[in-house]
Amino acid sequence: MSFYEDRIFPVALDIALAGIADTRRELIQSAQGRVLEVGIGNGANLRYYTDRATEVVGVEPCAAMVDMAQKKVDKLIADSEGKISRDKYQLKVGGGENLDLEDNSVDTAVACLVFCTIPDAEGAAKEMFRVLKPGGKMLFFEHVHAAPGIKARVQNLLNPIWKPLACGCHLNRNTKHMFEQAGFNYQQIEEYHHSKMFPIFSSVIEGIAVKPG
Ligand SMILES: C[S@@+](CC[C@H](N)C(=O)[O-])C[C@H]1O[C@@H](n2cnc3c(N)ncnc32)[C@H](O)[C@@H]1O
Repeated sequence: MSFYEDRIFPVALDIALAGIADTRRELIQSAQGRVLEVGIGNGANLRYYTDRATEVVGVEPCAAMVDMAQKKVDKLIADSEGKISRDKYQLKVGGGENLDLEDNSVDTAVACLVFCTIPDAEGAAKEMFRVLKPGGKMLFFEHVHAAPGIKARVQNLLNPIWKPLACGCHLNRNTKHMFEQAGFNYQQIEEYHHSKMFPIFSSVIEGIAVKPG
C-alpha cells in the first residue's frame, strides 16, 4: 500500500463520513452472535457493536487500517474495565473475496460502504453468502449508482477520476442487484439520498438481506 492509501485516505474517509454516525449506530446495533464485518477499514463501526454481538471478526486488506482498527479495539477493551473480553474481536488482513471462515459459521454479516470498492464485488457477495448461517442476516449500508438521470450520468463520467482518488471506490455500482445475484433475499431495503453525504455518492441502499434458511 502507498503513503496515500495508508495515511491520507483513512483521514479523508473520516472527514467525508463524519456525518453518518447515526446511520452507523442504527445499522450495527442489531448485529448479534458471531459477526463478520468485511472491509472494516479503520474500525469506525466498532464502537456501535452491543453485547449481543458476542464475536466480531473484521477483515480488511489494508494493514495500516487494521492497525488503526486494532487501536480502537484496545481502547474499547480498556474503557470497559474488564467487561469486554479481548477474544471478542479478531481483526485480520485479507480481502472479502476469499474469506478464511467456514461455511455457515456467521450469524450476522456487515457490509458498510465497502462493495463500492472491493475489486471482485460479486465474488465477495458470494463469500458472505457462503459463510452466513441459513437464516443469517447481512446488514448493509452502501452507496450506489443513482437512478437513471443526470446524477447517474455524472457518476459515470467522474468514475475514472474518482477511482484512483478514493482507493478503488466506484460511484456507479448496482449493489442491490449484486446481492440478489449472490442468493440473498431482502427482508428490508431502503433506497434514498443520504443528506449527510457528498452529493456525488449520496445515493444509498440500507437494510437487511437474508440467506434463505
Ligand atoms: C470506503 S472504505 C469503508 C471502510 C469502512 N467499512 C467504513 O465504514 O468506514 C472502503 C473499504 O474497503 C476496503 N477494501 C478494499 N478492497 C477490499 C476487499 N477486496 N475486501 C474487503 N475490503 C476491501 C478498503 O481498504 C476500505 O477500508
